[in-house]
Amino acid sequence: MELRGKDMVGLRNITSQEIELILDTAVPMKGIINRQIKKVPTLRGRTLVTVFYEASTRTRTSFELAAKYLSADTVGIAAATSSVSKGESLKDTARNIAAMGADVVVLRHPMAGAAELLANTLSASVINAGDGAHEHPSQALLDLFTVREKKGRLDGLKVAIIGDILHSRVARSDIWGYTRMGAEVRLAGPATLIPKDIEKTGARVCGKIEDALAGADVVNVLRIQTERQQQGLFPSLREYSRMFCINRERLRLAAPDALLMHPGPMNRGIEISPDVADGLQSVITEQVTNGVAVRMALLYLLIGGGAR
Ligand code: CP
Repeated sequence: MELRGKDMVGLRNITSQEIELILDTAVPMKGIINRQIKKVPTLRGRTLVTVFYEASTRTRTSFELAAKYLSADTVGIAAATSSVSKGESLKDTARNIAAMGADVVVLRHPMAGAAELLANTLSASVINAGDGAHEHPSQALLDLFTVREKKGRLDGLKVAIIGDILHSRVARSDIWGYTRMGAEVRLAGPATLIPKDIEKTGARVCGKIEDALAGADVVNVLRIQTERQQQGLFPSLREYSRMFCINRERLRLAAPDALLMHPGPMNRGIEISPDVADGLQSVITEQVTNGVAVRMALLYLLIGGGAR
């Protein structure tokens, strides 16, 4: 079994076997990051470049750490301090990075399809670290890894995804990933933040948040994108919180052993209450650790010859 192609731009067309390969590969990778000396020579001589046109704490750092733990060299480019600020296009920026010998480019960009555009332009591997509201495949893979690690399976699980589905690249990649692995995905949020055709993905829209949460094995809370509040898609943060904040009372509707997840960054007190975010059911910090392992697996499979 191997990954098809040189890139990871999204989960829409991934097979369940490919997801399993990535998750299985991440298991020994997690063993490496739990060691005192977190270094193996697997990617020695290979170079990773992160190109981020949007802010990031988790994704960028974990890709860089993943590469370093596998002994690859890393360089980070932020749009604000690169020649992008002088008007250079994305394609030209990427071509120049590839010309300097990058083996893999990790791209975050506000435009949906940006990673695919680069993947079709460069001979280097391209990993999508989030493109607009389109996809964020490595986040979904770390979510799947975390759930599989805790529950021992993905098939047949009930997964509730709550919040701003419309603007969420995490939600889209999660939906493709969970449904491909045989989980049932339920969506709930303000009607204005649920895309019209989203049920075509195989996820089910629940009119009431209670229906999405009822007996759920996983409750995945999305960040409310406060920067979009000016668009008037919901009345106020206070109203949003009253209707959709995952607090102790709402979490009790899920299965007693339900996992509480959030991709970060969290707006505490808006989409998730601090007591449950830090509570016994929360796996939010473990998601971040698993993100490094899953990204190590992706790098190994894409540029380390791991799939072959
Ligand atoms: N989950 C996620 O993508 O976080 P960052 O924006 O910090 O990378």
